[in-house]
Parts: sequence; structure tokens; C-alpha cells
Amino acid sequence: MAKVLLEVKGLKQSFNIGRKNEVKAVNDVSFHINEGETFGLVGESGSGKSTTGRTILRLNQPTSGEIIYDGQDVTKIKGKKAETAFRKDVQMIFQDPHASLNPRMKVKDIIAEGLEVNRLVQSKQERGQRVNQLLETVGLNPSHSSRYPHEFSGGQRQRIGIARALAVDPRFIVCDEPISALDVSIQAQVVNLLQDLQKSHGLTYLFIAHDLSMVKHISDRIGVMYNGHLLEMGISEDIYRYGVHPYTESLLSAIPLPDPAYERQRQRITYQNDPRDNQQRELREVAPGHFVYTSAEEVPYFAKKLQKKKAAVQAAS
Ligand SMILES: Nc1ncnc2c1ncn2[C@@H]1O[C@H](COP(=O)(O)OP(=O)(O)OP(=O)(O)O)[C@@H](O)[C@H]1O
Ligand SMILES: [Mg+2]
Repeated sequence: MAKVLLEVKGLKQSFNIGRKNEVKAVNDVSFHINEGETFGLVGESGSGKSTTGRTILRLNQPTSGEIIYDGQDVTKIKGKKAETAFRKDVQMIFQDPHASLNPRMKVKDIIAEGLEVNRLVQSKQERGQRVNQLLETVGLNPSHSSRYPHEFSGGQRQRIGIARALAVDPRFIVCDEPISALDVSIQAQVVNLLQDLQKSHGLTYLFIAHDLSMVKHISDRIGVMYNGHLLEMGISEDIYRYGVHPYTESLLSAIPLPDPAYERQRQRITYQNDPRDNQQRELREVAPGHFVYTSAEEVPYFAKKLQKKKAAVQAAS
């Protein structure tokens, strides 16, 4: 049995509570991530993906809900020692490698910051060795360690961000759209690097992205987020091939296929919650391991829809 490393239970994160501009950025979200697994979180801009990641990292105090990391509720961490241990274990890689690297710091100092804060190196020599090793690990030339971030390309800067995260030997990394800002030709290289590192370092990822095609290859399981809710969740392949929630379908229909005949008949579905119905919707299991945000009454409908989709694909192959 796989070990659950992170469990998010009924997480809610609102901003400006009680004011006119109150936002329910994350609204009752639950999922878990097993050790060594990649959980992909997809959804359009403003759906609450980054907020989910940031709250897991304790950058926000959740409005309610639980975040259990390695058996411990992170919202209840007290004391400097426990805090430092958590900050070392859990790291983040950001979308914009330009904005997230201090332009006035040399690469070696950016990478060494975490080493020093966590007292992971004892001497200047050890510090230098460790930085060089990290640069090699992410495919950068150690002889460039005295350069500044602007002297690197976008892809190389993202590698610096990855080296910085790796420096403290974390177990869990939130990758917040780490390839969205990169050229398509570079994206696969960075994804491959993240996958290699996952294997060699036994890492667990929460991988955030806008579209399904980007997370499908890297993720074991996927959650589709919209307007603060997880609308569908399941094994990556299942979501990608047999997504049944109308919103997942609309995301899937937004992925262009290199087939003109398909393109012509492709319909873009847009999804809107119907404000008139007030059915008790929550994430419910419609097939083993496949969850849809729906009411109890609608579960059979989605279960049937899923069966039909699977049958159609099998009949075609
Ligand atoms: N600190 C904050 N104060 C107020 N509102 C916030 C704050 N952080 C996020 N929000 C709001 O919460 C909602 C979710 O934002 P979030 O950044 O999590 O979305 P996202 O899915 O990561 O979007 P994107 O794909 O654009 O990065 C948005 O409406 C956003 O404006
Ligand atoms: Mg975001």
C-alpha cells in the first residue's frame, strides 16, 4: 500500500471575509497525494490552484479545513524547530523563473541560501561543492555559478529555481505552472528533468497547470478545478480520455488536435453552474477511483456516462 504523504480535507480559503469583495478562492477541496506520486491540478485562471498550493505551504492560514502532511496537521505547527523542518521538507517552484529569482544575487548565492538557513553546509568549500553539484544535477554548467539570473535563458532560469528548491533536500514540491512561461521546445526538457529528479530523489509533486494536455504525461492522478471547487478527480488517463464532468469536457475540447476533420466538428463547451439549483453537490465516487462533483441523485447519470464513453473507446480500438 502506498503511503499517503499529503492529505487535504475540506480546505476552504477565503479572502476579504465579510467585505463586499469577499472571494471564496478555495471552497471545500479534498484530495490526497501518495508518496512518490504526482498529483496534477488543472483549471483556468482564477480557479484557485495557486491558492491551494500556497495554503499547503502555509503561506496562507486556511479559513477552514485540514492539511495533513506526513501525519501532522500543518495548520497546527508550533515552534521554530517544527516550522523550519516543515519549510525544508516542502518547497515550491514558480511559474515565472524571472520574477522568482533575485536579480541582484549570483546564482550560487541564490542556490546556497537554503543551505545556509538550514545549516546544511559547514564550510565555504562545502557550500561551493554542494552548489556545483546541484547545478550539475539540473543540467547547468557549474562554471557559470558566479553569473546573475539575467544571463540565463528562460529554461535555464527555471533550472536554477529547481536547483534552489532541491538544495534543502525536500520531499514534497509544489510546482506552480513551472513550464507555462517557457517556449514549447523547452517545456519537455524541464518536464523530463522534473521526472528524472522525482525518481532519483524520491520526490512527491503537486503539479499545477492550465490545461490537461500539460499535466497528463507527468501526473499519476489529476484534479480539475473550477471556481474554488474540485469538479472531477481520478487517474490521469481516465480524466484525459473519459472525463465526464461538463467542465472537464470543455477543457478537453480546448485541446487542439492535429486533425483538420476533427477540428472542424469540434465544439467548445463552456460550463456554468446553474445558480437556480441548490442540490447538495460534493465530490462523489462514480466509478472506482473516479470522482465527480455532483449531487447524490446525479451519481448514476455520471456512472452511466462514464461507462458509455469507455465502451465507445473500446469499440473503436
Ligand atoms: N491574497 C489574495 N487576496 C485576495 N484575493 C486573492 C488573493 N489570492 C488569490 N485571490 C483570488 O483568489 C482567486 C483564486 O486565485 P488563484 O491565484 O488561486 O487562481 P489560479 O487558479 O492559480 O489562477 P492562475 O491560473 O491565473 O494562476 C482569484 O479570484 C484571486 O483573485
Ligand atoms: Mg496560479
